[in-house]
Amino acid sequence: MIDIAVFVSGNGSNLQALIDAQNYGSLKHARIVHVISSNKNAYALERADMANIRADVVDYKKLGQAAAEAKILKLLKTSNPKLIVLAGFMKILSKDFIEKCNAKIINIHPSLIPKYCGKGYYGLKVHEAVLDNHEEYTGATVHYVNEIPDGGQIIMQKQMKIWEQDNTPAKLQKRVLELVEHKILPKAVELVCSQICANAFPKAVNYPGRGIITGCTPSGRKMFAYFIMGRSQTSKARIFERSGNELAIKLTKQDPKFDSSLILYRPVRIFGENVIVTNGDQTDTIYDFLSEGKTFEEALRTRTYEPDAPHYTPRISAIMTPSGYKQSILKMAGKYFYEYEYKPGVGHLIHTYERFYPSRDELQSFIGEPREFAVSEDLDLFSESLWKELNENYRVALYVRYYEQDFVNYQDRLFNINEVN
Ligand code: GAR
Repeated sequence: MIDIAVFVSGNGSNLQALIDAQNYGSLKHARIVHVISSNKNAYALERADMANIRADVVDYKKLGQAAAEAKILKLLKTSNPKLIVLAGFMKILSKDFIEKCNAKIINIHPSLIPKYCGKGYYGLKVHEAVLDNHEEYTGATVHYVNEIPDGGQIIMQKQMKIWEQDNTPAKLQKRVLELVEHKILPKAVELVCSQICANAFPKAVNYPGRGIITGCTPSGRKMFAYFIMGRSQTSKARIFERSGNELAIKLTKQDPKFDSSLILYRPVRIFGENVIVTNGDQTDTIYDFLSEGKTFEEALRTRTYEPDAPHYTPRISAIMTPSGYKQSILKMAGKYFYEYEYKPGVGHLIHTYERFYPSRDELQSFIGEPREFAVSEDLDLFSESLWKELNENYRVALYVRYYEQDFVNYQDRLFNINEVN
């Protein structure tokens, strides 16, 4: 479930369409947690009140744009939405705001973008221009918001024929709202939220620890990702380093008192057409067993969880071959193995911990089966959003590799919090 904030300025009939969709169950992945109005007299505020949704007014007239945006950022810190929906919000958000804001932002615009959009085209003015130009069709568009007004990537668009009766801007606006906007906005919000859900950790997971994703992109390119997070100074001092077509972990500073055997290992090794990814020295066990003609499972049955009392961190492992991939977790509760065929756009995520209880310094092991995780075709988009998913207080390093169709050549991305010399 994704928490969303809706920004409004006037009547708020698009906000109402979202509230209705929520009440009738068609918003399955979204929950409206906050309404922000740029205008204290907006009827949208009454709609929020009737639906019991928290609403705040940020008076642009009184504050001016910079102070108003600063106030919005402050308010958003308290509701923490992952998506902002501009639904009849008659202000242009600055580049600075868009960068500072932690949420994705989408907007509904009452025309068929790229027609009748950009600065000066808002509200009734759009419909006026459409009628002046004797257009046969009009419609509305939901799109991502970037620094160019109405210029971001289009998510959904629908057109409608203009009738003779639509002969004033107000009449045309009413029909575009009812026939198009109120239909596509809830659909677009649901689509975007289901996508956000598909590549996010469940909300209850506050510290995933170390994690592996294996799977393939929508076009069938095989991929894997491996990340590490840490709480202690030494664990946080690690960096990932490419080592040929494998991956190594190094320490930026050594603490002689600290046993680093559990945090320094080779997370990625390649044996022929097998890619091995793990969170410990079981990578080598699997590699050695494969060299002797034995299997992933046989190798891991000789191993257990880590001896790091009181946590007893699970050992997580994965192997990818041209025909499928396997994952495993060795934890106190037992040794588990999972096997998958490649499915376009789907990966599986397994990680070491479910939760961290700071006041008790207690870590709860991963629960259940590997979780489906959406894999996009775009390597940058995928790796940057995965990096952002990892809590910035604990994330240490992330490596993502997308193979070409040949399963030999690849592109990769590497993120380290520590500087690499
Ligand atoms: C809607 O038509 C929306 O698309 C438009 O304002 C109207 C608000 O209606 N937005 C813009 O023009 C933004 N550039 P509502 O308050 O009833 O939702």
